[in-house]
Amino acid sequence: MVTWVLHYLLVAFLIAISYNIDAASAGITRHYQFDIQLKNITRLCKTKTIVTVNGKFPGPKVTAREGDNLQIKVVNHVSNNISIHWHGIRQLRSGWADGPSYVTQCPIRTGQSYVYNFTVTGQRGTLWWHAHIQWMRATVYGPLIILPKLHQPYPFPKPYKQVPIIFGEWFNADPQAVLQQALQTGAGPNASDAHLLMGFQVHYTIALQKVNTYKLMVKPGKTYLLRLINAALNDELFFTIANHTLTVVEADACYVKPFQTNTVLIGPGKQTNVLLKTKPIYPNATFYMLARPYFTGQGTIDNTTVAGILQYHHHSKSSKNLSIIKPSLPPINSTSYAANFTKMFRSLASSTFPVNAPKTVDKKYFFTVGLGTNPCPKNQTCQGPTNATKFAASINNVSFILPNKTSLLQSYFVGKSNNVFMTDFPTAPFFPFNYTGTPPNNTMVSRGTKVVVLKYNTTVELVLQGTSILGIEAHPVHLHGFNFYVVGQGFGNFNPARDPKQYNLVDPVERNTINVPSGGWVAIRFLADNPGVWLMHCHIEIHLSWGLTMAWVVLDGDLPNQELLPPPSDFPKC
Ligand code: C2O
Repeated sequence: MVTWVLHYLLVAFLIAISYNIDAASAGITRHYQFDIQLKNITRLCKTKTIVTVNGKFPGPKVTAREGDNLQIKVVNHVSNNISIHWHGIRQLRSGWADGPSYVTQCPIRTGQSYVYNFTVTGQRGTLWWHAHIQWMRATVYGPLIILPKLHQPYPFPKPYKQVPIIFGEWFNADPQAVLQQALQTGAGPNASDAHLLMGFQVHYTIALQKVNTYKLMVKPGKTYLLRLINAALNDELFFTIANHTLTVVEADACYVKPFQTNTVLIGPGKQTNVLLKTKPIYPNATFYMLARPYFTGQGTIDNTTVAGILQYHHHSKSSKNLSIIKPSLPPINSTSYAANFTKMFRSLASSTFPVNAPKTVDKKYFFTVGLGTNPCPKNQTCQGPTNATKFAASINNVSFILPNKTSLLQSYFVGKSNNVFMTDFPTAPFFPFNYTGTPPNNTMVSRGTKVVVLKYNTTVELVLQGTSILGIEAHPVHLHGFNFYVVGQGFGNFNPARDPKQYNLVDPVERNTINVPSGGWVAIRFLADNPGVWLMHCHIEIHLSWGLTMAWVVLDGDLPNQELLPPPSDFPKC
């Protein structure tokens, strides 16, 4: 009798446990509300009105666990149109919640609202969200943190604390006006006036006591997880902390084999997690954290350095008379630093986090990415590379035009695609040339709304080749809807006979954004297992505005769970 009762209790206990595990892995629903509203804010001694989420700048942190469902209601109280992109979220079958305006939805208009409803499947790490229309993301961005499932550890020592650190770019002018002016005149955009660390700005020559400094307070002998996000519009950034080594453990919400560095390079749209181990005993000093651009292009750039402070808590000592230690950063155009740093990224490739890079590929594509020109309209003098031209940018010489009356995804879904986009995006350059050598005389781009259509479950290899047209420059290219594996990269022109032999299929890094090196190429592979329409673009905002973007249409698979779901009922009207 006693054994029977014990047995019964044990079974009940096991059922309870497995129920809890199931409940934990199924995830919960988390609700957020984003009120898009104006806010007065003072930076660089000037007060101006910016568009924010909930009056916060940077915007609110969204936190979820792997497996959770997120329902984020965005209510637009401002006169600008808005849409929000959840950068790096795969949006499996839920492309309606991806967010780029005129790609997966029409924007949310003044007074309207839309609930972004999606489930975070098979992902954990640091991501972010941002506005995805014109240059609204200049002030509309924030962290999106996906914690591992309950009781699932990190593949590195448990951090004492986690701190998101988000970089931005500040314009004294209205960023929309900066964009409009650039598009109108054909010139490069006016440079920003400062870089930001968590929305704060201090040139490191300015006195530290100023209120607008970002300060990270730490304790000795602890490990902190810094979740670095570059939300800057146009600038790649070097980041360093004086006298401290950083251990990189994650890129774009994918774990990597840990490696140490003094300086992190982070392009717009990228996320990098680093461990910061603090000094074992209280140091009699404070330390600068600095960020400053990496830039190899032509034209003017905001080369200001933003400073934050790393400061140790001490119960009795005040920090007033402490010496402050300054780090040094690589030269602004240090492509060699960029290349060496990029090479360090390797997937964890463990049994828990295996590499699923396609070993064979069904489809190969070769895309050139770079700048170009459009003709200046008649009766106008332009300020592009010549006064008869405007700056443009393209992929395979197609400068992308977004639709403006509907979105690509809607027109695909209702089956009337042909009015809005064409399916003949070139799989390779129409006129091959020496991509990184002397550029061709004719730099004019063609313009169009063209996509590549992929069958469900196609394995894709894509080589992105930088060009020297109007100068070589790095391009952080972001793919919506997928992570990809970076199987190869190099300088100069990609060589199809030689370079694939060097591909890394063992532990290639998995990411959502990758730099096409300045004057070089990168090869990526991905499995097209997510039906929908997925934008791919340079995350340097002016390049996107100039047309350095295209879209992949991934068709439904045969099984019911391989179909794009229908749009939600509150989907914004076009
Ligand atoms: Cu982070 Cu299409 O964007």
